Amino acid sequence: MTNEQITEGVDPSSNFQLSTPDLQRLISSKRVVALTGAGVSAESGIPTFRDAQTGLWSKYDPMQLATPEAFARNPKLVWDWYQWRRDLFRDKKPNAGHYALAEMEKIFPHFVVVTQNIDGLHRMAGSTAIVELHGNISRDKCSRENVVIERAQAKASADGLFKCPRCGAYLRPDVVWFGETLPRDALDRAFQEAMQCDVLLSIGTSALVEPAASLPRIAQEAGAFIIEINPDETPLSQSADAVLRGKSGGVLPQLAALLKRKM
Ligand code: OAD
Repeated sequence: MTNEQITEGVDPSSNFQLSTPDLQRLISSKRVVALTGAGVSAESGIPTFRDAQTGLWSKYDPMQLATPEAFARNPKLVWDWYQWRRDLFRDKKPNAGHYALAEMEKIFPHFVVVTQNIDGLHRMAGSTAIVELHGNISRDKCSRENVVIERAQAKASADGLFKCPRCGAYLRPDVVWFGETLPRDALDRAFQEAMQCDVLLSIGTSALVEPAASLPRIAQEAGAFIIEINPDETPLSQSADAVLRGKSGGVLPQLAALLKRKM
């Protein structure tokens, strides 16, 4: 088999470069993990975290807004920031990249999205096998008991926040903050999927935040083939087996279309 680049049916203006053996490897995979990050939702109009100009962490200090200590110090500031983000997410729709991943779930025998995103757009696009590593912003939980509480059950508080109907502690968004451990079930499942997969696609993540950043390495050590999809270089790029340089909203639909034709 030659190492020719796949171009058939692919937009010639894109940097789509998957060699024939690499494509064969993907086609023959039984178990595929798509590890996604904020980049996947960028084309839906949701800012990423670490992009120099537009990333949230270039404008806001995560230590003041996304830690348990920040919430203990100033619950209203943190709550209001998350309300702002909820408002920002409200009218956002999945983009072509999310839909392509939902298509891939139908193509492969076993296909799981392991996402660091809290926006729910994978589910909205039709993916059903999803592991949410960092929670979901649409839910609230009790800041003391760590259990999900429906807003309708919560008690409104004079300061605009809500309180747990059981213990009276403030509700907080059901997302993972810096310094917190990830939800046990999600983490266990993510590691299990990584260790058992044939191919791991790392898409739209800077591959900097642990433990998600370790999943490609764990998968690779267990024998999986790693494909990175990202317009920019990341710490994973050097060790990835293949890199598709481009935006996920452009690359993934082409990849899904190619797979549909070949499988
Ligand atoms: P980052 O903001 O760190 O990285 C986003 C990545 O997406 C970068 O590598 C960009 O180059 C890439 N990117 C930008 N636009 C893209 C596009 N259209 N298509 C594909 N890729 C694109 O976001 P994450 O890696 O998700 O955690 O960050 C991980 C975690 O750090 C987040 O879940 C969040 C944050 O702090 C918590 O809040 C706990």
